[in-house]
Amino acid sequence: MCGIVAYLGEKEAQPLLLEGLRRLEYRGYDSSGMAVLNGTGLHLLKKVGRIQALSALAEQTPLHGNLGISHTRWATHGEPSDRNAHPHVDATGKLALVHNGVIENYNSLKKRLISEGHTFTSDTDTEVLAHLVGDHFVKLPAGTTSRLERAVIAALREVQGTYGIAVVHQDEPGILVGARRGSPLVLGIGTGEHFLASDVSAIVAYTQKVVYLNDYDVVTIDRNAFRVSSLTKRSAGFEISDIDFQQADAEKGDFPHYMLKEIFEQPQAIQNAIRGRLSHEEATAVLGGLNLSPQELRDVDRILITGCGTALHAGMVGEHLIESIAQIPVEVDFASEFRYRNCPLDRRTLVFVVSQSGETADTLGALREARRKGFRVLGICNNVGSTIARESDGGVYMHAGPEIGVAATKSFTSQVTIFALLALLFGRMRHLSASQGRQIIEDIEKLPAQIEKILGQTERIKTIAAKYCQAHSMLFFGRLLQYGIALEGALKLKEITYINASGYPAAELKHGIIALIDKNTPSIFICPQDSVHEKNMSTLQEIKARKGPVIALATEGDTTVESIADDVIWLPKASDYTLPVLSSIPLQLLSYYTATALNRDVDKPRNLAKSVTVE
Ligand code: F6R
Repeated sequence: MCGIVAYLGEKEAQPLLLEGLRRLEYRGYDSSGMAVLNGTGLHLLKKVGRIQALSALAEQTPLHGNLGISHTRWATHGEPSDRNAHPHVDATGKLALVHNGVIENYNSLKKRLISEGHTFTSDTDTEVLAHLVGDHFVKLPAGTTSRLERAVIAALREVQGTYGIAVVHQDEPGILVGARRGSPLVLGIGTGEHFLASDVSAIVAYTQKVVYLNDYDVVTIDRNAFRVSSLTKRSAGFEISDIDFQQADAEKGDFPHYMLKEIFEQPQAIQNAIRGRLSHEEATAVLGGLNLSPQELRDVDRILITGCGTALHAGMVGEHLIESIAQIPVEVDFASEFRYRNCPLDRRTLVFVVSQSGETADTLGALREARRKGFRVLGICNNVGSTIARESDGGVYMHAGPEIGVAATKSFTSQVTIFALLALLFGRMRHLSASQGRQIIEDIEKLPAQIEKILGQTERIKTIAAKYCQAHSMLFFGRLLQYGIALEGALKLKEITYINASGYPAAELKHGIIALIDKNTPSIFICPQDSVHEKNMSTLQEIKARKGPVIALATEGDTTVESIADDVIWLPKASDYTLPVLSSIPLQLLSYYTATALNRDVDKPRNLAKSVTVE
């Protein structure tokens, strides 16, 4: 949410900043801007709208210089406009700052600064922070260390809230300062050049070496060196890491949208999620990153899974998998609720936080709350080096590769697959026999080929999407493991098509939802041949009896469903445990093609941004 890119080196900053912003556009796309320093001072460009609008402006009036900061915005304080776009400058006009996060005490700081003669031109909390840093800068004496660094530290000591920032000052033209608390910031280390970015995809084209900054870190950079200090500790440590993917992995290639590319990457993503993690010999899963001894695994008698949005839906499927395979009671809670709910947890509860980005503020808040209470917290993350991955006691990486499309797809199926692995592992520590374990392994290993088969129905799904795309609302039904998939299908549709949609456990139909059924409201019914197939057939009939159109997801060869539903998308024969991964795929495609039929901006849906780093 909001993207920052900054550069200090020998090259022209502007093209690097614009390219970086383009790669971070999924984090926010309502306005953007940049500031570049050169011998004649500080120069700014800002524009409401997509990065494209800023690029066009930069083409007309290019900024030259080797030091620059830039930002793509997802509005929190103040509407999207040129005026509210970052960077913001201080009272002298010599300091420029970009910010991701929310300054919670900005009102009181603003009042104080106004009383001291400051005037503000935007509605943002960020402008207040720029003035505050600038105010400290003018009051501080010159010294042996960077005055800008000292001003940033002094200002941040007064700030409540979250920030990832990059700051430059005309009077220190060779210095770039960054800092973070609660919003991600990565330092990229090149040869004779350094970068700051909200995430590595902005800089992977230029360097593979990065430092993932920690909360309260302040980094002061010149062309050849950098220093990391801490707002809370006497000295701050840092570790130089390698980025775990190449730039090509984050390209769209021949696909029209990232979302479609990522849907088609799922056979590979699932392969990556299971690679080296299944032991045929032991008939179990091998998940060393959990950092739990066999005894500790055995001692778990309750599990809490938390996350947001799509990740939470994966957790709901995980609940069913773990409960049915391992017989451990599982609770699933919204991370945003858990962190404030103060719910009682049993001493031997193990907590899982699920997050593709590893940076979602609510999920991070839940993780910290659970750890503060002394619980063991394990992360299921995609982004290596993300805050959640680093702050967890252990966990499982998805290895799904970069997910750029705002609507999560391959991360969801990877998360569900990882829950199947966890269920197998916990099950084998308990009552699950070796032959049952082996059966689950075989089922999991079939997934990549089965997904390929479903992707082969893309044209059919596209035709179905075109048939129903004018609907004003759609209903998604599924039972047991498929209920989470129904919720996820409805979320995908809402996000990228803006069609109202909701997901229900199918048998709830008769308890009220049936009032919504009419000839204009399609129902998407996930009814494979699983343990509740017969029950689902009655519900299906109840919808058809009221003239509701039905798109069914059914097991190949299911003539009963074929004879009732209006349209059928086929799922391969599979076990109840792996079917949720399979049934997700047609729903993703259905949303995608409905969105494209309606000319929606699939990769950048309105009001949304990926990686929600504000509360
Ligand atoms: C939906 C979507 C969001 C995210 C949610 C959590 O397509 O992308 O609902 O799933 O914001 O994000 P992560 O997994 O990054 O914590």
